[in-house]
Amino acid sequence: MMPIGPLMIEHRLIEKMIKLMEEEIEKMKKFSKANPLFIDTAVDFIRMYADKTHHGKEEDILFRELKNKQLSPNHEKIMDELIEEHVWARTIVGKLVDAKEHYVKGNISAVKKVIDLMSELVKFYPEHIKKEDKQFFIPVMSYFSTEEQEKMLQEFWEFDRTLIHEKYKKVVDQLSNK
Ligand SMILES: [Fe+2]
Ligand SMILES: [Fe+2]
Repeated sequence: MMPIGPLMIEHRLIEKMIKLMEEEIEKMKKFSKANPLFIDTAVDFIRMYADKTHHGKEEDILFRELKNKQLSPNHEKIMDELIEEHVWARTIVGKLVDAKEHYVKGNISAVKKVIDLMSELVKFYPEHIKKEDKQFFIPVMSYFSTEEQEKMLQEFWEFDRTLIHEKYKKVVDQLSNK
């Protein structure tokens, strides 16, 4: 398997979550109410899976390796855009958490903010994923030899393995400190 294999598989799961968020937005619009539990679950998914696990492998491994290659101006431009888009998505998720907090504290009108921010994410992810899947991932594989690709894939597995242990160690540490 090429290293972009797992990344593309992860895109498919992210798309499923985006679809659920889309449905949730419709509900919020219809009833002018937010479901904080859904938002918490979606935020946890985006932060842990879409950002730490997925963008993590893209930035810390794939893009890091690409920076050592002589990229075409177009590939370099796309990579810069992708990095900027990851930063932007993190900001929006942070704002979504804030809006949800306001809502939970009794500011009912914050539901509008929640809808707007969630809509931004729902619009963003499919476009970002499309750019990676269609314009970037496959062509940039040609910068790597088969051995380099194999090494990258191994590093991906190791990255995921480490992350899951980190995540649950943190959960236990946080609970122990309470
Ligand atoms: Fe990405
Ligand atoms: Fe991606």
